[in-house]
Amino acid sequence: MSIYIHIPFCSSICSYCDFCKLLKNKKWIEEYLIVLEKEIKENYKGEKVNTIYIGGGTPSTLSNKELEKLFNILKIFKTEKNTEITFETNTEDLTKEKINLLKKNINRLSIGVQTFNKKKLEKLNRKLDINNLKNALKNFDNVNIDLMYGFHNQTLESLKEDLKKIISLNPKHISTYCLILEPHTKLYIKKYKPLDDDKERQMYDLIIKTLKENGYIQYELSNFSKKNYESKHNITYWNNESYYGFGLGASGYIDGIRYENTRNLNEYLKGNFVLNKHIVTKKEKIENEFIVGLRKIEGISKAKFYKKYQKNIKEIKVVNKMLNEKLLLEDEINIFINPRYLYTSNEILLNFIEM
Ligand SMILES: C[S@@+](CC[C@H](N)C(=O)[O-])C[C@H]1O[C@@H](n2cnc3c(N)ncnc32)[C@H](O)[C@@H]1O
Ligand code: SF4
Repeated sequence: MSIYIHIPFCSSICSYCDFCKLLKNKKWIEEYLIVLEKEIKENYKGEKVNTIYIGGGTPSTLSNKELEKLFNILKIFKTEKNTEITFETNTEDLTKEKINLLKKNINRLSIGVQTFNKKKLEKLNRKLDINNLKNALKNFDNVNIDLMYGFHNQTLESLKEDLKKIISLNPKHISTYCLILEPHTKLYIKKYKPLDDDKERQMYDLIIKTLKENGYIQYELSNFSKKNYESKHNITYWNNESYYGFGLGASGYIDGIRYENTRNLNEYLKGNFVLNKHIVTKKEKIENEFIVGLRKIEGISKAKFYKKYQKNIKEIKVVNKMLNEKLLLEDEINIFINPRYLYTSNEILLNFIEM
């Protein structure tokens, strides 16, 4: 079983972010942790836990005292020695004391960097503490760094600079994000212009080429890692498997039901956790299998698909059609997106909605 825990607090708000986040407030954090424990105790059924992902918001914005409370709560879960426990951070929080505390409680660090370019960081309303970043990498083996691209007027040269820097730091995992202009964000309101499609494609290709040349394996559309350092937690999502989501705005998929928690802190603190629930039909389950499964570069295993659905994957009309059109390819084991069309994968995946 996998567990996602959402900590919605941030020290400052980035100009592009539409995630479930709130400016941090000591009183809210204190109440939040009490209610989070209640939510977990009410819902977790004691399954063995393979992965825990503490995401946000910015979990690292919590003080050491608050984090100790959080880690105490996590003792509820039946973890094992090799349970992957990821913790999301921003560099300004990664002091030596915090690193020491994290080392005792988690084994995978995900660090939001986005860019090393000072001007762009300012535009995004973000800070970067390069010394903390280097120190974190010295202390943790399994580290992911988030890199963003697709800024207005960004040149391939400036992306190359960011790639050079990230590669020199040698993290085991790199997640890439193309900037999305979300309504209600500061960038959107200020009419920040997106990058044109052609440039975005060139950037995507440059990222894949550069990271591959430097020893990274692309194992998902936007995710790269050194061998054996894939994110086990995210693979749960891409394999369309069950997971609990706890915390404000978190979503989960348990016993065939997808649910989404409220994004309203007042409601959450009152114990009204779930906003909506949906029983997933078999048809929807198969649709999801493709929509998330084809994000993996290796694609979907034909045998595993048969075992899960007692159905030959090629009997599905859309699959057959796309195999004929060479949008999908197959080898002995898997069916996967033709690498030539990875950039247009979203259009390919759309074919599986209401197929
Ligand atoms: C929601 S943040 C949580 C972790 C941490 N607070 C941080 O900022 O890195 C996770 C990642 O989502 C990505 N993200 C958030 N909003 C985005 C947007 N509008 N477009 C693209 N990526 C976005 C950023 O790259 C960020 O690293
Ligand atoms: S990107 Fe991260 S730090 Fe910035 S507002 Fe969103 S969750 Fe907070």
